[in-house]
Parts: sequence; structure tokens; C-alpha cells
Amino acid sequence: MCKRIPRATLVFVTSLVLIFGGVFPAPAMAELERQPYLQSISDTRVVMRWRTTSVDSSRVSYGSSVGNLNTDVDMPGLRTEHEVVITGLAANTKYFYSVGSVSGSIEAGNDAGHYFITAPDVGSSRKIRIWAIGDAGTGKTTQDDVRDAYYNLDDVETDVVLALGDNAYSDGTESDYTNNFFNVYNGLLKHAPVWSTRGNHDRDPGIYETAFTHPTQAEGGGIASGSELYYSFDYGNIHFVCLDSFTDSNLKGTAMYTWLENDLASTLQKWIIAYWHHPPYSRSSAHDSDSESGQRLSREMANPILESYGVDLQLGGHNHFYSRTVLINNHYGLSDTWDADIHAIDPGDGRGNGDGVYRKESNPEGAVYVLAGSSGKIDYTPIHHPANFIEDEVLGSMVIDVEGDRMDVRMLRENGTVQDYFSITKAPQANQAPRVNAGNNQSAETGVAINLDATVNDDGLPAGVLTYDWIKVSGPGTAAFANGAAVDTPVSFSAAGSYTLQLAASDGVLSASDQIIITVTDPDDPGSVIVAAPGASGNVKKSSSAGSVDATLLLGFLLLALLRRHVRARVVYIVTPGRNRDHP
Ligand SMILES: [Fe+2]
Repeated sequence: MCKRIPRATLVFVTSLVLIFGGVFPAPAMAELERQPYLQSISDTRVVMRWRTTSVDSSRVSYGSSVGNLNTDVDMPGLRTEHEVVITGLAANTKYFYSVGSVSGSIEAGNDAGHYFITAPDVGSSRKIRIWAIGDAGTGKTTQDDVRDAYYNLDDVETDVVLALGDNAYSDGTESDYTNNFFNVYNGLLKHAPVWSTRGNHDRDPGIYETAFTHPTQAEGGGIASGSELYYSFDYGNIHFVCLDSFTDSNLKGTAMYTWLENDLASTLQKWIIAYWHHPPYSRSSAHDSDSESGQRLSREMANPILESYGVDLQLGGHNHFYSRTVLINNHYGLSDTWDADIHAIDPGDGRGNGDGVYRKESNPEGAVYVLAGSSGKIDYTPIHHPANFIEDEVLGSMVIDVEGDRMDVRMLRENGTVQDYFSITKAPQANQAPRVNAGNNQSAETGVAINLDATVNDDGLPAGVLTYDWIKVSGPGTAAFANGAAVDTPVSFSAAGSYTLQLAASDGVLSASDQIIITVTDPDDPGSVIVAAPGASGNVKKSSSAGSVDATLLLGFLLLALLRRHVRARVVYIVTPGRNRDHP
């Protein structure tokens, strides 16, 4: 006799069969169209990007070891283009990660190959490895050969990847970028951050700017550019500057060059590396720096600014061969105006076992301009430019190692041999005081907090640790700082009038400060703005030049205002974390 099976058990067993038998498959996991890649990394943050074939939520999990990714950063909502910002990281630290959905499904990662290493402290002298590729994204085997030669070079961790434009032929479309750029380099880009400059084949600025998350707000140091097409960042003791030599409004306008000047004036970094697509000292029948506007204008407009602030190396593409100058300075005209006696700071090969490395110990002048446009294919025959030391029609990429006071540059061919090399050395750097910008003057209402937004740059010396101190220099009432020891802090004011605030920054040995004016009004007293101290529009501490009668009236008015404010006792703080961006 058969024993009757309870109905609940039947339902349970049937469900298991259906689920595991695939009749009711588990919800499909989104598939990756672009594997994860790292963007805009700094000493405290990184932007994680990936693209799925269908919409999904976004989660990055990270931690100190594989299998222990104990911190989640979630973005609810659905999308295919995933962009998750991770902040509050420790400098020079390795984190493993995974990407997936907020449901917990993992689309990639939680293995040894998915990790990121935050930038070292600004000013740090630790060795930094840069890999630069130009005009790379041809989709041809020659592109793979150049890539593989670098992958097989050594075991040195890649800190910075620079893509010098024309990254995805033939038109920089979505599929060009997926197939000829991200899919080709994803083995590296999942753990080495890439920054790019726009080339003429990156035809659609929208597709280009969507593909990359560049630091527009000085998230990694420097001065905010407000543009993804030109920007700067710090990495260790290097200040990187990206310019846009393709977009007419940038190339021929003034905003980019004004920003460049301000940005370079603010940096204390030992090394400056600039990059843009159109090479200023490279001639071929296709792209001639004597005539093509991107090449000619960048040389005439950008090089004088860069050289006045001591730029060391410039990287470009566009012509599909390799060339580089000797150590040059102050040559902005056509090639026939070149005079080695005037423009060559060092006419030698820059090699320690040849004419000697390029030395900038006592003279800060001189930069080397590199054309590295043969990372995907070879095209065009060079027309000799007299500033160049070498012009070779070979495939390859640039391998740049910077450690302390020395920069070593190699052109690595697709067959693994080194076609060219040179070095630049500098003197040990003396400590300089931080550069402090307290931000813009602002207006506020009594009792309502505003955010102070300052920037501080330092050379990382002596120890890379900065302290900050906001104080009220002058003003009729109190200035309550939420955190006066942070670069950025909310502050509120007790009474109407003009306040001078000062931010001081110290590196432990040297300090510097900057002041701003905050004009405070009382919303309950439309006439309160007249309380402003005489001459309060300047950035200098005010002397009490008011007469005794005026001063008495002023004091009485202030006491009344304070009393009214005290009675209302309305003090609102907008609590936001200090940016703590430049210096952990
Ligand atoms: Fe190009």
C-alpha cells in the first residue's frame, strides 16, 4: 500500500525541480559589455566604471583581500552605464573589488586580477610606472603586438595609463570604443587607471566624454577645469596636465590657456607631464606641425606657458610613427626657425651611457616632446624636424618610470626591443610652503551655514601631512566653524556685517594663509547690510578708523542684533564631510 505524500511536501519538491530544472530560471544576471575599468584615481578616491548589456543596479564591493570585500557602495536605480564613486580610501593602498548589482550578484571581480591601488601621497617619491599609447585602437594585430610587448615587459605595477587620442578607430563610435579600446586593454584597465586626451578620430565628443570620467573639479589635485577635455591631476610627485588640441573652441579660445596658467601656478610638484593629441614638433605629408592648426597652435599657445612653469615631458600622437626631440626650450616658430644654439638646452641623446642624461638640477629649463602615435599601426613617412633627435617608422608604446629625482623614458617596440631611451634628472627638492587658496568671497544670512570651499596644494615635504586652521580675522559677530581644522567646512555667523576669514595651512615646518570676505545679512532686517565695516571689501585686516560716535552707534546696533539672534537661537549647520582631497 502506498503511503500518501503530504501536499506541502509535493509543492516544495516540485518547486525545487522546476527551479533547478530551469523551467523557472533564476533572474538573469546582466552581462558585461565593457569590463570594469578605473577612472580618476587619487590618493583617497576612485571612480569604477562598467557597462552592461541590459539595465541593472550598481554595486561595487571592495576590501583588503579576495573573498573579504566587506564594504559595499550602491547605486539604486537601473542603468547600463555604471559609474560608482568610492571615497574615503587610504593612500597607496591595494583594494580588491567586484562589480555587480545591489541584489548581490557579481558580474566581475572578487579575484586576484580585479584590484585598484590608490595613488601615493602627493609629493611622494615612490616609483611610478606610466604606460602611454597613441593612436592605438586600430583593432589590428599590430595593436595587440604593441600591447603584448608591454604586458610581457616586466612585473612592475602600472600606475598610470595615458591614451593619447584616436583611441578607437575609425570614428570613435560606441562599438569602436568597446571593440578596439576597452576589449583590447581590459586585462590592464581593470587594475590600472586610464586617462585620455581627445584625438581627431574621437569624432563624437558625447561618446568620448561618456567613455571616460576625467577629473573636472580637481578631484585629484590641481585646479578645477570644469571640462573633461582638459584637466589636471597629481600622482605621487608628478603633476599631469591634459590639453585638448582638437576641439576648436578649446584650441583657439582663451579659457583652456587661462586655466592652464592658473593650474601650473598652483602646483608644487617636482615633475610636470603634459599630453595632447597633436604633436608640436612632428612633420609628415599628412600631419605637419608647420601647417596643421592643432599642432601649430598648441605649440604657439601652450608650450610657452608650460615651459615657463618647467614642464619636463610632453606626449602626443596623430602621426603614426615615433619621434622625440632633444631637451629643448623656447622654440615656438616654424621648423626653419630652429637654431640649436638657442633652442637646444641639451642637444645630446639624453642617455646615461651616451651623451649623458638630460640634467635639470641647476637649470629648470628644457622639455622633451614625444610623438608616440604608432601604438596601433604605422603610417606616413616622417619629414625631418630639426628639433628631433630621432624619427623612426616603428610600432611601439612609451614606458615611463619616475622615481624621486629621476625620470626614465623608453620607447618599447612591438617585438619587445627598446627603440629609444633617455632620462631626465633633477636636484633634490627643498621644502616649500603649501599654496593656499581660501576660495571665493561669498554672501550669507545670519544663522544659516554656508560651505567654505578652499584648495591647498603642497609638495609633500617634509612628511606629506598638512594641518589646517580657519579663523575669523575680523567681523561684527562670531563665526562658528563646523570643523575649523578641515580644508572645507560649513560656517555660520551670528550677526550681519562683513567678515574676513583666514585659512592657514602648515606642513609642519612652513605655513601659508589666504583670506576671503563673507558679507552677511540678516533676513529679518533688510537694512542690515549697512552694518558692513568700512572698507570691508578688501582682503586685508581692517583698522578701526571709524570715529567714536560712529563706533558707539555701531556697537549698539550690533548688541541689538546679537540679542535678537540670541533670542531666536536659530543656528543651522549643513553637515557635509570635509573634502580632505589633497592630503589625507
Ligand atoms: Fe589623429
